[in-house]
Amino acid sequence: MSRRATAEYLVSLDVGTSKVAAMIGELVASPNGTGRVRVIGLGTAPMRGLKKGVVVNIEHTVDSIRRAVEAAELMANCRVRAAHVGITGSHIKSLNSVGVVPIRHREISERDVEAVIEAASALAIPADQQVLHVVPQEYVVDGQEGIHDPVGMSAVRLEAKVHMVTGTLSAAQNLYKCVERCGLTVEKLVLQHLASSDAVLSPDERDLGVCVIDIGGGTTDIAVFKGGSIRHTAVVPIAGDLVTSDIAVAFRTPAQHAEQIKIKYGCALPELVQNDALIEVPSVGETPPRRLSRQMLAEVMRPRLEELFRYVRKELHRADVYDLIAGGVVITGGVAQTPGILELAEEVLEVAVRLGLPHDVEGIEEITRSPAYSTGVGLLLFAKQQKPVGTRSLSHASVGNWAGKVQGWLKGHF
Ligand SMILES: Nc1ncnc2c1ncn2[C@@H]1O[C@H](COP(=O)(O)OP(=O)(O)OP(=O)(O)O)[C@@H](O)[C@H]1O
Ligand SMILES: [Mg+2]
Repeated sequence: MSRRATAEYLVSLDVGTSKVAAMIGELVASPNGTGRVRVIGLGTAPMRGLKKGVVVNIEHTVDSIRRAVEAAELMANCRVRAAHVGITGSHIKSLNSVGVVPIRHREISERDVEAVIEAASALAIPADQQVLHVVPQEYVVDGQEGIHDPVGMSAVRLEAKVHMVTGTLSAAQNLYKCVERCGLTVEKLVLQHLASSDAVLSPDERDLGVCVIDIGGGTTDIAVFKGGSIRHTAVVPIAGDLVTSDIAVAFRTPAQHAEQIKIKYGCALPELVQNDALIEVPSVGETPPRRLSRQMLAEVMRPRLEELFRYVRKELHRADVYDLIAGGVVITGGVAQTPGILELAEEVLEVAVRLGLPHDVEGIEEITRSPAYSTGVGLLLFAKQQKPVGTRSLSHASVGNWAGKVQGWLKGHF
């Protein structure tokens, strides 16, 4: 069976610490005319080449990406050449900035908007860091706040508030290298937090104020929205892998068994364990397997997850955004599947917490049932925003322009 050419497809590559997920989507007509994304190919492969979201072994990373992409291509019966790729890691930094320009012709043009965003992003950043995103939060026109599309308005002064995201050049370059070694071009590098948020949030939540917590294997990515715009992003170095290693140490069992036990029997809150059946745990070395209770397993898991939510709470206070999240918290990522995690998060964060599953896609049901696919789906939605047709949100249109420039710059440095 011959494979189709792919120029019109949307392709996402979520290169995570635990797995790579490659998705191929196509745009289908929807009643409101903006188009919906139908996923026609999904491929996953376990990942061993990343630590805390950052490439540490090129060969392993390339191998996992290749396997995931091939599986997605096989399912979609097409060959892909470019993808939107997610990036995260402790090297990611974010800050809010403001820029101002005078309006010479008394009416704001698109060039004025570009100029004010450029002014807002003209900050000194360390030499090893590079700008990944400049996301407009809102514009202020002659003192009037909360404006999302100032083009065409009469004014003498335009101010832009933006959220800037930077990452180390080497981390981005290594990711580029791995993807390109698989014969793919990186269409855009997108912050994983922004992608996951796109996939799980409703416009109302973004408006009211919400915090998305994407708990993966290596990192926990946080994004706070309010008034329809991004306010804060952060990366927390505590996630599922640490829970697994706690179990491995506490029960003296190899990591792969600890991982299986966690997924099959794990619970974030000991008091929620109903069936306290005994679990057989293989030991290391010659020691015979032992039997341990689910209650004990939950008692090992709880402290690490509680530490994670305390860290998140501290970070929200540090960034002065805790009071913005009237819409509560949305938890997504693979660890969101742990029974009792929503209850534990509610207890520690003292806000309403819900599970975030990816929406706004169709085609493969498995995707919309798993929080581990939120980043991949978000990257597809991001790719959709970059298409010239259909409606675009203010922020993403601009992100595209800026991310595009940055990628061009980055590529020139290889
Ligand atoms: N059913 C489950 N119950 C509890 N934990 C789970 C379950 N399924 C997966 N996990 C955990 O989720 C984590 C992987 O999540 P995810 O696939 O979102 O990570 P990733 O995107 O590869 O990593 P990262 O985003 O940190 O780079 C692992 O720690 C895994 O043990
Ligand atoms: Mg992830």
